[in-house]
Parts: sequence; C-alpha cells; structure tokens
Amino acid sequence: MDSKLALPVGTTLDRFIMRNQEDFPFATGELSQLLRDLALAAKIVNREVNHSGLIGISGAYGSQNIQGEDQQKLDVIANIRFIRALRNGGEVCTIISEEDDEMIQTGNCQGKYIVAMDPLDGSSNIDVNVSIGTIFSIYRRQSGLGEDGLLSDCLQPGEQQVAAGYIIYGPCTMLVYTTGNGVNGFTYEPSLGEFFLSHQDIRIPEEGYIYSCNEGNYRYFDEGTRAYLDYCRKEALTARYTGSLVGDFHRNLLKGGIYLYPATEKAPQGKLRLLYECNALAFIAEQAGGTATNGQTRVLEIQPTNLHQRLPFITGSKNMIAKAQAIMQG
Ligand code: AHG
Ligand code: MN
Ligand code: MN
Repeated sequence: MDSKLALPVGTTLDRFIMRNQEDFPFATGELSQLLRDLALAAKIVNREVNHSGLIGISGAYGSQNIQGEDQQKLDVIANIRFIRALRNGGEVCTIISEEDDEMIQTGNCQGKYIVAMDPLDGSSNIDVNVSIGTIFSIYRRQSGLGEDGLLSDCLQPGEQQVAAGYIIYGPCTMLVYTTGNGVNGFTYEPSLGEFFLSHQDIRIPEEGYIYSCNEGNYRYFDEGTRAYLDYCRKEALTARYTGSLVGDFHRNLLKGGIYLYPATEKAPQGKLRLLYECNALAFIAEQAGGTATNGQTRVLEIQPTNLHQRLPFITGSKNMIAKAQAIMQG
C-alpha cells in the first residue's frame, strides 16, 4: 500500500474512506458514499444476525432461490437490507444478488455503479452460531447514464472491479475491502456503532499449512483433486473447513492456506458463483499477494456469460496454489 495512505490503527472506516478517496481513478466521492452505504447495511445486518436466535429469524424461510437452494430467513432479510441501503444511497443503478433471479434496477439512473453481492454467505451455519458473511463486488457501469443498467454492465470480468469486500459476522464483526490498492480490515465496535481500522495492508503468507475443502465429496472429485488431497494428508497439513466461504477465506487470508471448492459429479461446473462470491474474493486474494483460479484460468479474467454462473474455485497462498496445480496437472 502506498505509504502516503497509511493511517493509524483505530482510524474509523469513514475517515479511512475519505482519506483514500483521492486514490480512486474517478475521485468524485460517489464510490466513497457507496462504500459507506454498504457499511451501514452491514451494521444493520450485524444487528439482525446478533439477535437472530432471539427474535425468531433463524431457520428456513420456506422458499428456494434461483439456485434451487432453501432460503433462510436471514438470507432474505440481509438481501432486503443491502438492497434498501443501496437504493437509498443513490450511487448504484443496478444490483445483482445471489438471492434474485434477475437484475434489480434501483431507479437511480444517474448511478454510476453496479453492485454484485452474496448478501448472506454460509446460510447453513446461521442456526448453529458459526461465522457467516456478506460478499460484494463493485463495478462501474459501461452504459451511459440516464437509463437502467444493462445486462452487459453486470457481466464484466472480475478485473473490472473497482472495489470488493466482505463482512464477516463472527466472534467480532469485520469489514475487509480493497479498492485495488491493498487490502484493509476494520473491526466493528458495537457500542460505538463504528468500524475501526484493525488490520492494515493485509498480506496473505506465500506459504501456508491449512487446506480448506469439503473432503466428504472426495469420491466425486477428479483424479487431480484427489491426488492433491492425498498430498495434503501425507504432508499432515491442517484441515479447516466450516462451510462458510467467507470464514474459511478470512482465516486463510490471515494465516496462509488454500481454499478449494472443486467441480464434483453433482456440480460439474462447481458450486460457488463467479459474480457473487468468487470475483470479490479473487480480487482481495490478489491484492493481498495471493492467487485465485478455476484450475485453468485466473478467476479475474473469466468473461461471465450469465448472472448465476458457477465455477470450480481455488484461492489462497501463492505457493500452495502453485503446488496444488502442479499436482493436479500430474
Ligand atoms: P451460500 O450460503 O451463500 O449459499 O454459500 C454457501 C457456500 C459457501 O459459503 C461454502 O463454502 C459452501 O457453499 C459450502 O458448501 P458445502 O456445504 O457443499 O461444503
Ligand atoms: Mn455464498
Ligand atoms: Mn448466500
């Protein structure tokens, strides 16, 4: 990170965003406002998450999303909260969400930005009090102002992200984001209602000892993936997998590790979603010095062809991924 931008630990997120505004290619303040809108929604969702066991909003909602997955009440609530904050904020013309089949037009036709999001990641962990998260990507619209955003605005490759981040609702709540100039993490102080800079210029260790994969699917993986998992066991690496991508990614980002969600027989394209999950984390991983690939191609270079596209996903420490790819390719 550029040293002129260094700010002391304890700086509020608002101040950090303002201070770094000059660093954006289009420094008109709208992206800063958009980041603040996302932070506001994060605080609201954090409150809902913290109360979820008490006010009857854990559990299933009784419907399925476009992916055919059961929606949890918090999935639906988080989706509504983020959409509302972005609509009210005015900077975003179009939102795409894991929870919505189609593009959501906010009515802010002068908005210059597109947001893609997984409003609640790790749904299966809501009811069991394991960390969950929110993932977001921000793109500039390519179409002219004055109209709704187009599908082509939403199908930009990850390289075009101007910012991306996640919120992890864990033992403490954190917001981690990048605008393409390093990665910074902010910890939420609930009694003050503020995010404070706590993890400055995060670098993922080049080597790591953790591997994160749902090995229950071992028999459904291809030979290369199995060979790599055999290697992890032979080397007695540490297995850590919660089933919340945000949580597993965040751990590996701080400690060094590799996260894999390969294609399976059941999910031949992979399970995770390019636009809502993988692009944001790939951008953060690379900005922190790590890697993200689908096994063949750098994730950020993949040209999306549909909103809910899936892919095999491997991300984390640079040297671990190089080793994994060498083994997978035989
Ligand atoms: P979501 O809750 O947004 O649908 O995402 C769930 C994802 C991801 O968070 C996690 O890593 C993965 O699904 C877990 O899948 P398995 O249960 O198949 O391991
Ligand atoms: Mn998810
Ligand atoms: Mn989700």
